[in-house]
Formats: sequence, C-alpha cells, structure tokens
Amino acid sequence: MAKVTKRKKLVVGNWKMNPQTLEESQKIFKGIKKVFGKVKNVEVLVCPPYTYIQPLNKILEPLKLGAQDVFFESVGSFTGEVSASMLVDAGCAYVIIGHSERRAMGETSEIVSKKIATAVKENLKIILCVGENVRDTSGDYLEFLKNQLKDSLVGMQKRYLSNIVIAYEPVWLIGKSYGNAMSGQDVQEISIFIKKVLADIYGKDESSKNLILYGGSVAPINAKDIIEHGQVDGFLVGRQSLEPTGFNEIIKIVSEA
Ligand code: PGA
Repeated sequence: MAKVTKRKKLVVGNWKMNPQTLEESQKIFKGIKKVFGKVKNVEVLVCPPYTYIQPLNKILEPLKLGAQDVFFESVGSFTGEVSASMLVDAGCAYVIIGHSERRAMGETSEIVSKKIATAVKENLKIILCVGENVRDTSGDYLEFLKNQLKDSLVGMQKRYLSNIVIAYEPVWLIGKSYGNAMSGQDVQEISIFIKKVLADIYGKDESSKNLILYGGSVAPINAKDIIEHGQVDGFLVGRQSLEPTGFNEIIKIVSEA
C-alpha cells in the first residue's frame, strides 16, 4: 500500500513594525533558528519589515523569509512602494497580502486581488489574510468572510491556486489576551467553511491542497487545542513571533500534532 505522507505544516511570524533595530532583528531571528533547525515537518517563515529582509537573508537557512505587503504594479513611478520582483530579489519566498491592519488603512479586496495577481506571476507564495471584524449571532460574518475571500481571489487563475495559503484571522481576536483565543472547535467550523468556499470557486480537487492557517493571539497556551482540533495546517503569529521562546514552543506544538 502506498505510504500516505502528511503535508508539511506552516508557521508564519508576522513581526509587523518591530523590532526597532537590525541588531535586535538578527538576535530574534537567530533565537528562532536555534530550535527550528531540529524540526523537520514544519516550514517556518518570518516576515520582518522590508529593511531587515536582505540582511536576514544572509543568515536564512533553514528558515524562510516573507514580506508583509507588496505593491500591485510591477515597475514605475510609485513613490514608497515595493514590487514583487524586488521582494524575490531580496530573498522572499512568500508575501502576506490583505492583513487586517492594512485593510483598516483602506486596502480593499479589489486592491488585494490586484496584489495577488502581480505576486503570483513572480512565483511568490501568498499568505492571504481574511477574517471578520465582529461576530454576530445571525451568521452574517460567514457571508462577510465568503465575500472577502471571493473578492480577494477574483480573477486569480486556477493554475496559481497552489501558491495561495489562506490565513483566517478574526480581527476581533488579534492582539488580544492569549487566554481568550478561539477554541479549536470554533476554528474547525471556519476551516471547513473556507474549504467549501474555495471548492465552490475552484473545484474540490484543486482547492483541497490549499493550506489554511489560523491567526489571532496564538501562543503556546492555546496552540495545541487549535492545531489538534481546528483542522488547520499551522499559524500566523504576531506578538509571539518576536519572542523566540514562545515562537519555538508554538513550532514544537505544531510539529508534534
Ligand atoms: P497577534 O497578531 O498574534 O499578536 O494577535 C496576529 C496577526 O495580526 O497576524
């Protein structure tokens, strides 16, 4: 009988606008590398601010690097923006697109879809963030989530689907107390829902391979329940990714699940 190989899980650290110096960033990065070198079945990706990407690339292996955003045009007069090919050139394998903190600054799903279209052409893998701002009792948040996914992926060709990782991040649980994170059971409901929406757009066979991550106050104290019962393939981690001890503990939990 053919051996069924488990697909590799993924843990992503989103450093946001931290830390404040390159020296500090190297210290954190090396701290993460120390433990991670021993974990085989998990891919670990760190997404630092743009200015740290190239220097960290020099001490990369076996970690991977990603950016926190990208512009939707490929080249030209766009002051302050960074293109997908520049990210590849700097050593990025991934880019986060549509994080709720960017959406809160005015990024629409239409812009998100344009960014995805540019990034996949450069062969970048995408961590597409989706998530409702609030929960209501009538289930409107599911409709919101469905539309956000569909609108963010509008026009994205099936052949690029394998480049997409979906990160479900309920906005109301980002940056909150670790004790209040979502339960594995609740994450599972959403994971199944997201798989269904993807299957409706791209077909069941194609979409079944997409990784789904959970993000929102992930920490060692809640990671086990979510990875074991949430039907997710890993995490998108904010604050704890700046703490090598906590982040390494999360990686270990994911690797043992
Ligand atoms: P948090 O951030 O883990 O600090 O809640 C998650 C995120 O915004 O991606």
